[in-house]
Amino acid sequence: MKPTIFITQPVFESVIQKLAAHCHVTRNTEDGPPARDVLFAALAGCHGVLTQLNDRMDGEAMDHAPDLRVIANIAVGYDNIDVPAATARGILVTNTPGILTDTTADMAFALLLAAARRLIEGDRFARSGQWKRWKLDLLLGTDAHHATIGIVGLGRIGQAMARRARGFAMPILYSSPRRAAPEVEQELAARHVPLETLLQESDFVSLHCPLRPDTRHLIGAAELALMKPTAILINTTRGPVVDETALADALRQGRIRAAGLDVFEKEPEIHPGLLSLDNVVLAPHMGSGSRQTRLRMVEVAAQNLLAALRGEAPPNLLNPKALPSRRA
Ligand code: DGY
Repeated sequence: MKPTIFITQPVFESVIQKLAAHCHVTRNTEDGPPARDVLFAALAGCHGVLTQLNDRMDGEAMDHAPDLRVIANIAVGYDNIDVPAATARGILVTNTPGILTDTTADMAFALLLAAARRLIEGDRFARSGQWKRWKLDLLLGTDAHHATIGIVGLGRIGQAMARRARGFAMPILYSSPRRAAPEVEQELAARHVPLETLLQESDFVSLHCPLRPDTRHLIGAAELALMKPTAILINTTRGPVVDETALADALRQGRIRAAGLDVFEKEPEIHPGLLSLDNVVLAPHMGSGSRQTRLRMVEVAAQNLLAALRGEAPPNLLNPKALPSRRA
């Protein structure tokens, strides 16, 4: 008998067709994550679930899924899933690393340039009819080239960001609990420094660490106070890494120059203090949002799911400790 899977939110039809060849597919066709009671009911008879980053898969949800064998998340981040709770229940959890690295770094760099060169303000101004003539001091920005960039978290995406920065001749600092391999430091000409030094010395600070209990509000009022008044903060990782209230205050008071944000503490809500500011570029969590990358993410998540349902160790398994007690 084919296993039953639940797809929590709309995904590409081509992938659903592939899954349907091997599974009995049930799915939520509404936009957005299903309500908790809908999710619980759908999980009841299900062996696999394809989730997105705004689906909360906690112990309570798993308790409604006595047959669930695998949670395949269509994202590299997995802070929406209680992995220890899954492990304790013998449920495998997978993510989609690697595929979205360059696409997300492109977005981080786009935000960096847009914030530095005031691109969105310029667009608004050009459309507004207020542009009357060339003006020497119109919307003056900050140079990115040759400016120092501080990268917080030198994982895959942090490294891809550093490669882009190298193309702009930017000296690179990085902070991370573990030092990168010597060959990585050498290739990127990246200097490992404590976070405090990075914040004090960087012209741009770009966040690439995962959201974990120890990185929640990693950047708050005290950290923002260490940054240069001319510095620009970029966040494409997870919103709660930054204390948004403190950031809105710092931007409003000119304690830092600008920010470029793709992620927010309570998505899709954006702190009202940020919405009213010109010196912040806002994007609706679209860092990995190229057509090619999003399709690939769904395909890889589906491959992870099918491998787990076949009884194999899926390629992007996050909790190998669950393997000995996995559900059959
Ligand atoms: C991820 O995969 O974690 C990204 O945030 C999606 O854009």
